[in-house]
Amino acid sequence: MMDTNTRASPAGDRLTVRCAPHPQGTDMLIIYDSLTGNAQRFAHTVAERTQRLARRVTDPPPDGPYLLVTYTFGQGQVPPSTATFLAAHSAHLRGVVASGSYHWGANFARAGDLIAQAHGVPLIAKLNKGGAATDVDTVTAWLRAHDPLTHRSPHGPLD
Ligand SMILES: Cc1cc2nc3c(=O)[nH]c(=O)nc-3n(C[C@H](O)[C@H](O)[C@H](O)COP(=O)(O)O)c2cc1C
Repeated sequence: MMDTNTRASPAGDRLTVRCAPHPQGTDMLIIYDSLTGNAQRFAHTVAERTQRLARRVTDPPPDGPYLLVTYTFGQGQVPPSTATFLAAHSAHLRGVVASGSYHWGANFARAGDLIAQAHGVPLIAKLNKGGAATDVDTVTAWLRAHDPLTHRSPHGPLD
């Protein structure tokens, strides 16, 4: 996908400038929490695929909508670092992806269920460890469907 901007040159001509894809400030951010790297890798894979920014829960907080990617800890619990983040920054939470391990049976990726229920947002995917290609597809499709830019007027932000 290419962005196209029309700008005036110093001589007064109209120039069309084509730019490479870049993360948009208004796109949904991907915020992740990760202990051993599975959720982090998944977040970065999806971020790269969708040209969005991926940030850790301890980075500067989001000031717009975001998708949370986290993992499951204890006995089917939300990691304390994720809980701390959500306590302060849940206003812009739009969806959650949770990692876990099939090994944990009924508690598999249960952090996702808990967060979705507590905050009234959809659980987009449960990942076994770092997830599969189908998980990347699912989350990519969800992000693209929920991009604020796709909900704007087709005539642009000034209409
Ligand atoms: C102490 C501990 C407790 C865990 N508890 C669960 C659990 O209850 N349910 C689950 O699905 N996975 C559980 N896991 C597995 C992790 O959620 C899983 O490995 C996940 O991919 C880790 O994500 P990360 O690599 O981003 O930290 C646990 C892992 C550890 C180390």
